[in-house]
Amino acid sequence: MRWIRAAGRGLLVAMIVLTGYAASGTAPGSRAPGGGRGPMTLATAGDLTGYLGRVLDGWNRAHPGERVTLVELPDSADETRSQMVTDLRSGAGRFDVLNIDVAWTSEFAAAGWIAPLDRARFPLRTFLPPVVGTATYGDRLYAVPYVTNAGMLYYRKDILARAGERPPRTWAELERQARTLAPEYGLDGYAGQFLPYEGLTVNAAEAVYSAGGSILGDEGERVTVDSAAARTGIGFLARGVRDGWIPREALGYTEEESRRAFQEGRLLFLRNWPYAYAGASGEDSAVAGKFGAVPLPGTTGPGTSVLGGSNLAVSRHARHPESARDLLAYLTSEPVQRRVLSEGALPPVRAALYEDPALVRRFPYLPALRESLLTAAPRPKSPHYEQVSLAVQAVAQDAMAQHQTPAAAVRRLAGELAAIARRR
Ligand code: GLC
Repeated sequence: MRWIRAAGRGLLVAMIVLTGYAASGTAPGSRAPGGGRGPMTLATAGDLTGYLGRVLDGWNRAHPGERVTLVELPDSADETRSQMVTDLRSGAGRFDVLNIDVAWTSEFAAAGWIAPLDRARFPLRTFLPPVVGTATYGDRLYAVPYVTNAGMLYYRKDILARAGERPPRTWAELERQARTLAPEYGLDGYAGQFLPYEGLTVNAAEAVYSAGGSILGDEGERVTVDSAAARTGIGFLARGVRDGWIPREALGYTEEESRRAFQEGRLLFLRNWPYAYAGASGEDSAVAGKFGAVPLPGTTGPGTSVLGGSNLAVSRHARHPESARDLLAYLTSEPVQRRVLSEGALPPVRAALYEDPALVRRFPYLPALRESLLTAAPRPKSPHYEQVSLAVQAVAQDAMAQHQTPAAAVRRLAGELAAIARRR
């Protein structure tokens, strides 16, 4: 249903884009003299909750000469990236403002595809501290944080309560409950996003970080992954598949398949982003009112989530960069950030909203999410981030499929990352 809606919206958006160009009289790629003001496009990954168009209507009403047209790209992080990169590389300039996954910011900055920004122009001090780091590269600001994200552990409150158990805070507790309790109730134990794509990089990095390890240091120049902690982290995921408390079909899950498995009542535990909360609470959900969300577990206590989300950047080829920068300020203003949460069900970057009593009543997971966000760690920064991510996914996949031991997989990853670092 969601997919059909999204596809329909995509077509509509494509039509608007075409007519938008005709109306503005500015050919894609042509720069206004002096980098002034005028209409623009905003490219984004699929707007799953369908709120962004309404937010942009507000801007368009107030700025008739600087109208923004939404270009919705596919839902998956990887496909969105490839369409953006094709456009940026060719210099075609179809996209003026880019809503980029936080993971890609350093790569886009290093390649010179996005323009540096003046820090003083944006309310960075009002943001949750960890998010600002995702928007910088080499000490310069290249984007403005717009939406943030942290993984949470969704659990079946009804089942844990019946069994007299509390939601797990450590992997040992999660493993025990997933192994023993889930089968008693005819459920699978645990799933995350384990298909090889950016989501698996996230899940593997979280496992490594939650065991106290890291992957890369110094913006990609130092390889730090070859550690006992990384072996423990990858070992946790591999053991889950081997011992059956991670179902084999989860090896093909992205966010949406894993959300559906939980929502249809097939899973005791799920790692997912906060957007899944809305779906699992919906009328068509088998688990509405029967689940809760807590920070991800780790080795000795709460673990470490990867910091997700997206940053807004201005393309080097932007037709009207002044208008583009104003749009960034608008989208990070307090009223719009409030709508990111209340209408988009996405985690805003403004810190104060997490302590707003009315919002906390409506989104009961906000305190757990805030805790996860404040301790979340970014993905490795590297000018070759795509290759880094592909290497992480490949070894996590092999370890989970039992093709390689966690120790051998981590050693291989260290070697591959060192080769990527030498490519600078
Ligand atoms: C979410 C996160 C993003 C991450 C992606 C992985 O969209 O916000 O940062 O890369 O999931 O699938």
